[in-house]
Amino acid sequence: MLLGVNIDHVATLRNARGGVEPSVFDAAMICEKAGCHGITTHLREDRRHIKDADVRVLRPALKTRLNLEMAATDEMQKIALDLLPNNCCIVPERRQEVTTEGGLEVAGQLERMTKFVEPLVKAGIVVSLFIAPDEEQVIAAAKTGAQFIELHTGAYSEAFGTDKEEYEFSRLKNAAKLAQKLGLQVNAGHGLNYENVHRMHEIDGLYELNIGHSIISRAVFVGLEKAVEDMKNLIA
Ligand code: PXP
Repeated sequence: MLLGVNIDHVATLRNARGGVEPSVFDAAMICEKAGCHGITTHLREDRRHIKDADVRVLRPALKTRLNLEMAATDEMQKIALDLLPNNCCIVPERRQEVTTEGGLEVAGQLERMTKFVEPLVKAGIVVSLFIAPDEEQVIAAAKTGAQFIELHTGAYSEAFGTDKEEYEFSRLKNAAKLAQKLGLQVNAGHGLNYENVHRMHEIDGLYELNIGHSIISRAVFVGLEKAVEDMKNLIA
């Protein structure tokens, strides 16, 4: 499995003081040096962490891939078509949420999502839809023209070590299998950490994991390069 590192929380820390430290750009360079396969940034509508200037500077400088997470809005579509990141991951977004809480509602707005995805794919961007591991959402995602889904692992991560773990894990496994049968490639992410990530190996054919919070948290103690290397070793 490949590792995409989400560096939003480096920007959160930088913005806490309104200055330039720690540098989001330098963080991305260190993650690449440590062997990650892509850099993920979520350009939120309220720009609470990643700013437009961050993605503009990162796009030409990255040697791996820029995965732009964004909401399905006209503004974000315009930015993506201008920036041309390698990957776009479409996520639901509510201003009040602390982080991306649920999966994208694709089944209930299939026509809108299909129209949203089309110009991005035409522009050569590899598009992924961030969805809950629900059969209905997987089937709908396969009809949109997106090449990937990213399965929301938040429920699994929360259930890890409890009597709900097997249930949540089986939802991920079944959703991945169905998606692959329908011709989609499958990524996963949210809430994955150094303890719970190992079970991702039990899901056949997972392409990439996008991990942010646990890596940046560990980096506080061991340094970013080592934190990325440790995760990469766990999922390789
Ligand atoms: N994937 C997506 C689509 C996300 O929105 C997030 C959180 O921003 C992540 C992965 C990473 O989640 P975490 O920070 O919990 O590792």
